[in-house]
Amino acid sequence: MVKQNLYLCMGSACHQLGVYEVLPKLQSMIGEYHLEEKVELKGSFCLDTCSDGIVMKFKEKVFTKISPENIEQKFIQEILPNIQ
Ligand code: FES
Repeated sequence: MVKQNLYLCMGSACHQLGVYEVLPKLQSMIGEYHLEEKVELKGSFCLDTCSDGIVMKFKEKVFTKISPENIEQKFIQEILPNIQ
């Protein structure tokens, strides 16, 4: 199976909002939901929606307003359904 890239923005705006706290939580959820075979977590340059919280992208879908506090909830409600 070909892995799809799941991008996490590492641009400066997202960095300031705490991307480095989001990253380990994402990594552990990818393990928890056994997605290692399906997605490859990658850092990305600015995804151009800087004013909208931390940004992630999967295929053509962009997920905004992510924070270290809500990443678990966002992942389960918005990102996970797009991966599975
Ligand atoms: S820095 Fe993340 S969208 Fe611009």
